[in-house]
Amino acid sequence: MAQSYEIIEHSYDTVVVGAGGAGLRATFGMAQKGLATACITKVFPTRSHTAAAQGGISAALGNMGEDDWRWHMYDTIKGSDWLGDQDAIEFMCREAIPAIIELEHYGVPFSRTPEGKIYQRPFGGMTTHYGEGTAQRTCAAADITGHAILSTLYQQSLKHDAEFFIEYVALDLIMQDGECRGVLAWCLDDGSLHLFRAHMTVLATGGYGRCYLSCTSAHTCTGDGNAMALRAGLPLQDMEFVQFHPTGIYGSGCLITEGVRGEGGYLTNSEGERFMERYAPSAKDLASRDVVSRSITIEVREGRGVGAEKDHAYLHLEHLGREVIMERLPGIAETARIFAGVDVTREPIPVIPTAHYNMGGIPTNHRAEVVTLENGDPDHVVPGLMAIGEAACVSVHGANRLGSNSLLDLVVFGRSAAYRCSELIKPGAPHKPIAKNACHKALDRFDRARNANGGRKTADIRLEMQRIMQSHATVFRTGAVLAEGVEKITQVERSFQDVAVADRSLIWNTDLVETLELDNLIAQASATMRSAANRTESRGGHAREDYPDRDDREWLKHTVIWRDDDGNTRIDYRPVHLHTLTDEVQAVPPKKRVY
Ligand code: FUM
Repeated sequence: MAQSYEIIEHSYDTVVVGAGGAGLRATFGMAQKGLATACITKVFPTRSHTAAAQGGISAALGNMGEDDWRWHMYDTIKGSDWLGDQDAIEFMCREAIPAIIELEHYGVPFSRTPEGKIYQRPFGGMTTHYGEGTAQRTCAAADITGHAILSTLYQQSLKHDAEFFIEYVALDLIMQDGECRGVLAWCLDDGSLHLFRAHMTVLATGGYGRCYLSCTSAHTCTGDGNAMALRAGLPLQDMEFVQFHPTGIYGSGCLITEGVRGEGGYLTNSEGERFMERYAPSAKDLASRDVVSRSITIEVREGRGVGAEKDHAYLHLEHLGREVIMERLPGIAETARIFAGVDVTREPIPVIPTAHYNMGGIPTNHRAEVVTLENGDPDHVVPGLMAIGEAACVSVHGANRLGSNSLLDLVVFGRSAAYRCSELIKPGAPHKPIAKNACHKALDRFDRARNANGGRKTADIRLEMQRIMQSHATVFRTGAVLAEGVEKITQVERSFQDVAVADRSLIWNTDLVETLELDNLIAQASATMRSAANRTESRGGHAREDYPDRDDREWLKHTVIWRDDDGNTRIDYRPVHLHTLTDEVQAVPPKKRVY
């Protein structure tokens, strides 16, 4: 190593990396259970990307019409295009109800019905009676639900004396003898390096939306935990499944919530036609996101897009009236004004499908424990390591996530991680030893990036990667385009060897932060492109024009992909859990898709 670094050591029972909804729910739950808990986060907790979640969080509370968690479970399995693990889905939909009542009691300021119950709106794919009717299942705090939840969870974490390490960049997991023993992090404020030892390290680092040029994700969404898992020799799962939200603002990609369509908004093409009636006669504008995104893309391709370039669609909510808009959707009215220059009470919003969510991530079981394939066991638990939220692939979303199941996933599995840790860990128990050289590999990578002296700027390589992902791993895919994508991403991987970092300092070195983040993004772009090229069927968010049908005989299985330090990848498979925890709902894939 070019330079030796001093490392400050900390010991906790549990360490959570990331302070979004999942990270904070886990942090506060663990602290509440008496575990000494640290939360490391690269941004101030209430600035985490969860703050951007608008429309709501699903739970079959039945406040605004009949509902049942079993219907929620069925919808989620169907929405996942049958790739979701049914035991985990059962767990999520059942636990949604107590988890949300708890949130209400902790202080989340939900919108209210006239009787004072939590307000719930319809969202895509959420039905009653196993597909018969429309469920109003999405609990909302106007259109700032994520922000409301995040603030409450941060307050609860502080109340329970969790310790926060804010503006600390997690660098790598410290693995020994097949177990995780903690994590190495860099403090931006003073440039110091920190080893956090823990009985359980919980990755709650979010998705990697910033692989794409147009995405609804914050700039911080660089999938740092996923990349750390890959570097630790662990696989990622189902990375080919990237969700495109149908209504990102044309040009900026900012999210316009599905709640708009839940409240009665609709899409039109250049002929003024409500085209979703053709693609999904029953669900229409509230069909699941993969269906709506594909429909907009087809309209544009067939020449019925709107605007000068005829390359997007219009989302209307003018007819809802100012009063409803200002009460239920005030945030999007502001977003549309700022980012599209549109007054939503008078004119439609220009929208386009935009990368929104990664269904893939670090494989876990429903207790949030990271699992891997080992010695023929597809559910081998990696001791000392958990993953939750968008970083994880539980897999409750399978090939396509239903809107408002994401905030739910964060809260239910953050809570589940806390329960599991309280079962596994005795507060204050001594830590296992760590080898003297345990941090060397991580420090080598850090030092290499810090002193990188090549010919290419980080921003240029990032832009190249984002353009390739946008054009080659998008709403519709073909084998030829994906093969070219693999080649181009391989070139990006190579060109990262030639990256230049101009700033050598350790204090608030954003040049270095972005370079480390780019390294993380490239690993996931590669995993996504290669997994997509490998899956020769269409399912959920993965629409192959050369293989238009879902193929359950060959492909009802999770892709798992490993990537070594030289960028070589290896693919294997885990079976989908078609068993449930109880026998209350048994869902099997139908032969044909029905929307
Ligand atoms: O459309 C939305 O409000 C986004 C919700 C979600 O992704 O779950």
